Amino acid sequence: MQGAALLTGLTAATMQGDDNAYGLIPDAAIAVGDGKILWVGPLSGCPADHLALPHHPHEGRLVTPALIDCHTHIVHGGHRAREFEMRLEGASYEDIARAGGGIISTVTATRDASLDDLIATALPRIDALIGEGVSTVEIKSGYGLDLETELNMLRAARALEQARAITVKTTFLGAHAVPAGMDADTYIDTICLPALDAAHGEGLVDAVDGFCEGIAFTPAQIARVFDRARALDLPVKLHAEQLSHLGGTALAAKYNALSADHIEYANESDAAAMAGAGTVAVLLPGAFYTLHETQMPPVDALRHHDVPIALATDWNPGSSPMGSLLLAMNMGCTLFGLTPAEALGSTTRNAALALGLTDRGTITPGQRADLAIWNVEHPAELSYRFGFNPLHQRIHEGTL
Ligand code: NIG
Ligand code: FE
Repeated sequence: MQGAALLTGLTAATMQGDDNAYGLIPDAAIAVGDGKILWVGPLSGCPADHLALPHHPHEGRLVTPALIDCHTHIVHGGHRAREFEMRLEGASYEDIARAGGGIISTVTATRDASLDDLIATALPRIDALIGEGVSTVEIKSGYGLDLETELNMLRAARALEQARAITVKTTFLGAHAVPAGMDADTYIDTICLPALDAAHGEGLVDAVDGFCEGIAFTPAQIARVFDRARALDLPVKLHAEQLSHLGGTALAAKYNALSADHIEYANESDAAAMAGAGTVAVLLPGAFYTLHETQMPPVDALRHHDVPIALATDWNPGSSPMGSLLLAMNMGCTLFGLTPAEALGSTTRNAALALGLTDRGTITPGQRADLAIWNVEHPAELSYRFGFNPLHQRIHEGTL
């Protein structure tokens, strides 16, 4: 067996069991081998064959599943610091978008970047996430809005997985904004759907996303993109109900979306629809904070309907220039009222669900040995501090 070892002296937050619990095992041992978790439990109950493996003692550190950032836009050209200044001078995100800035300004910078530029500028972002114990990251296209640049963004995302020890899940987000000088329906017919077909043909697409909003696409337009995704047998997700209530969440549920993301303006019946469809709620406090949003996502309704809640960075150059998933956890608690246990579940178990992954996200025998070992005593510490990274070691697929 490859790389078999026994990690000892740990407090394990297995994240198995109910949503508001850590599944804690004090004085735990974890046996790993062949990139998988072989066994987890109290050291006192460890079977003899695992006890015979090489030991890695940990002096009381905390171990959690490795973190998963299930919503990012980290492949892009340029930056939008000037828009940060403009918003502080009183302009809104929508004002800037309607004046041709916003997403469209990143589109210009991304079209100007070569594939190598896109990879090189994304690598430090990937490294920042790895440095916080992230082992799986989702990366979206959506700053190309033409066939070649959409494909290049996804090629860059795939290249990042070759360059670093991390799983990258790619999401085609052609329906992110309408390019200048074109109407939305023409864009979908002549660029977005052909680009999706081409990207899928190159094996570049794990899921399909859209932006359902007054400054982007209507539910009917998104439905056409989702129909194509369904024809290609690709799962969908949606930026929905971020700035207004347009019905995107109900649409996402109708297509059994993996997730509906942002959803500040979603309501109780949206939560019920998500529960029925098995759609995860991905909350994005970085965008909420950056845009000075005041409408709170319907956390109580999501809890009431047992909708799994995930948190992500939404790392992008406009609405969420935030390179820390630990900070997203702190904000999920402080801004949205999640418990620290919900916050940790939201970046492990539930983030895996938001990507359709069932082989990771908890510390369970048979799952991938994607683990994060922290210099903290209690898992609530991961959400409680901000601007401080207590990671001791990340283990990606069992590599110690
Ligand atoms: O998730 N809401 C739409 N898309 C991104 C923002 C992209 C941008 O402003 O560049 C988001 O917030
Ligand atoms: Fe986003």
